[in-house]
Amino acid sequence: MTRHATEFVQPLTFEALSGNPVVVGMFDRPDYSKIEHISLARQADLLLVAPATANILAKFAHGIADDFLTTLYLSNTRPVLIAPAMNVEMWNHPATRANLEILRERGHYFVNPGVGYQACGEVGEGRLAEPEDIVHQALHLLQRKLETGPDLAGEHILITAGPTVEDLDPVRFITNRSSGKMGYALAEAARDRGARVTLISGPVRIAPPAGVETVSVRSTRQMYDAVMSRVGDSSVFIGCAAVADFRPASPAVQKIKKLGRQSITIELEATEDIIGSVARDPQRNSRIVVGFAAESQSLLDNAETKLREKSLDLIVANDITREGAGFDVDNNVATILRRDGSRIELPLQSKRDLAEKVLDEIVGTIKQGRTASVSAQVTDQ
Ligand code: C5P
Repeated sequence: MTRHATEFVQPLTFEALSGNPVVVGMFDRPDYSKIEHISLARQADLLLVAPATANILAKFAHGIADDFLTTLYLSNTRPVLIAPAMNVEMWNHPATRANLEILRERGHYFVNPGVGYQACGEVGEGRLAEPEDIVHQALHLLQRKLETGPDLAGEHILITAGPTVEDLDPVRFITNRSSGKMGYALAEAARDRGARVTLISGPVRIAPPAGVETVSVRSTRQMYDAVMSRVGDSSVFIGCAAVADFRPASPAVQKIKKLGRQSITIELEATEDIIGSVARDPQRNSRIVVGFAAESQSLLDNAETKLREKSLDLIVANDITREGAGFDVDNNVATILRRDGSRIELPLQSKRDLAEKVLDEIVGTIKQGRTASVSAQVTDQ
């Protein structure tokens, strides 16, 4: 605990609850030799800082070591997971943004704050992430270390997420219920497995994931342009966005007036097929293309058709009529369809866990592709 933290909660409370000693000052314990920062840093598998204030982020970013926590940070060589919590203005301040960027580039992991009611009485982004999410991420990092490690290192993964928005006139638009949660979970999971991740996102209410290049777009055309200008150096494309299939053919320049009419007709035209264009790109080479199919009927048949028609490597089919899964919730249930006709059923689980399964499948496909190209080369000789 920092000294400031002890103003809120007494160290004794945490000692009693955790059954572990609480360290506050550098020199204030008789058993200092056993818990000094170097030996504590050596024992750790992960350094989790929660809640991390704007002040602590600034000190970490600039290597200021004027208390136990900041000294421990400097002597730590293990992964660092930070759960920031602060007033919304402090969170958005350019100084905090710059410090976050430094820490991200240093390879630290973040559990981003959520939006909600804050201690200062304001409502906004900056509220500490839910404890379950912090624990989940911590366990996840520890497990990754034990199990797969950074098995996507060297890959550049381009992901689309969220809805697209098509304007009818300057005030009205057509969109859909996509929250972006699945695409953001994929981006975070891919980042944690060592990939370089670019996320092209329609308008959502989630903070951009740390360490992920996030490009915000609104319309399908903007998403298409953002994807096509970046897909060139990507090795994997995941189309998770709920892209509008149609847009108003000629959006009104001025607000549409009622003028006593009982009905009006708006003509819609087809939008760009983003994933289809990526899949049909003559420069595609070994790029893996993964689609999502959200359906309310004939789920697997429709997904199978999309897999074939769009030349995808994998498609993740989810039934949006299932209770507790699909749009704007934290869980999902899905079936992954492979090109060879085989299927993997993924029961109801968190979007983060589901993202890991999808990435496992992508890692498998990458390995298969490499084995196939090695054997092709061998046969050529
Ligand atoms: O909307 P639908 O279920 O047909 O989407 C299937 C897949 O195609 C998804 O991966 C989606 O992101 C992608 N898609 C796209 N461009 C479109 C429509 C869908 O990339 N215009």
